[in-house]
Amino acid sequence: MKTPVRVAVTGAAGQIGYAILFRIANGDLLGKDTPVILNLLDLPQAQKALNGVIMELNDCAFPLLQSVSPSDDPRVAFKDADIAILIGSRPRGPGMERRDLLAANAEIFKVQGKALNDVAKRDVKVLVVGNPANTNAYIAMKSAPDLPKENFTAMLRLDHNRAVSMLAEKSGVAVKDIEKVAVWGNHSPTMYADYRNATGAGKPMPEIINDEAWYKDTYLSAVGKRGAAIIEARGLSSAASAANAAIDHVRDWVLGSNGRWVSMGIPSDGDYGVPEDVMFGVPCTCENGKYTRVKGIEMDEFSKGRVQHTLNELLEEQAAVADLLK
Ligand code: NAD
Ligand code: LMR
Repeated sequence: MKTPVRVAVTGAAGQIGYAILFRIANGDLLGKDTPVILNLLDLPQAQKALNGVIMELNDCAFPLLQSVSPSDDPRVAFKDADIAILIGSRPRGPGMERRDLLAANAEIFKVQGKALNDVAKRDVKVLVVGNPANTNAYIAMKSAPDLPKENFTAMLRLDHNRAVSMLAEKSGVAVKDIEKVAVWGNHSPTMYADYRNATGAGKPMPEIINDEAWYKDTYLSAVGKRGAAIIEARGLSSAASAANAAIDHVRDWVLGSNGRWVSMGIPSDGDYGVPEDVMFGVPCTCENGKYTRVKGIEMDEFSKGRVQHTLNELLEEQAAVADLLK
């Protein structure tokens, strides 16, 4: 058995919390050889429900779950955290865009970024799920000046998984045989799900599908608006698939992606014309606990336009929180 890993999860009493905690405790995040310590954060008014979740976690008698503790104080929940999954925040309802949540949620990520800065492990891996995820991750990163910027990431993995699944359905190629899909930019309808380099069982995906009009007119908006379609159908935002994507994101970051491309929101290094620090979705590979952006992807005019479009939106969101970060 390896050393136990301390995982902090915020919004633990919420619907994504309910879908993710049991999988983390079961070893789906860090492997069946790694015990976990769960530090769960939620608001004071959610502590009763959170205690019920903890009772259920205990009732599973997970062999890997070393301990689990609730808190309503980020400085307690993030103390010595190795991994922090920041979910807690308000979800959107029908008719809203994710950026409409900025007013309600931005402050949360300032407070939590500061707390991570002060009490978490220096190599803490932070994943922001709460929407608008990219800009919330940017706020947390900017509020934690003593931590390396690359510790902070935003979740594009749900979009990546959706992009792969829809390509599998259209092409008839199994999900496991699809590689090199990239989702660029913001976790919003402006995101760019790029299939130009994707392969299905080694063959170029654009050739397999052979339907550029479907790609441009149907697929791109179906991936981009999938979150809204789920809210419309369920009356609630995605939860199990979001939890699954968060697990995929952190697991690959920690344990490696075996050479496969995965889409992650990470602080830009200026590549692909994206200004430094913008929390931007890019294809990455992960190895030895580190992610590396895939460099040198050729950008045609269409792709440049799509990247600029989603970048413009992120820059607007960044401008909207500039005062908060002063
Ligand atoms: P939910 O309302 O079911 O749960 C949210 C939980 O967060 C609640 O228990 C609430 O008490 C708690 N919370 C609120 N403010 C908090 C704070 N300051 N500190 C700690 N906890 C706090 O919502 P949900 O369905 O679990 O969704 C959570 C967030 O995840 C939403 O913002 C949603 O839009 C987002 N989301 C993102 C993605 C993605 O792909 N990035 C996917 C799905 C959902
Ligand atoms: C999603 O993509 O399912 C989430 O971001 C929830 C939402 O608001 O769409």
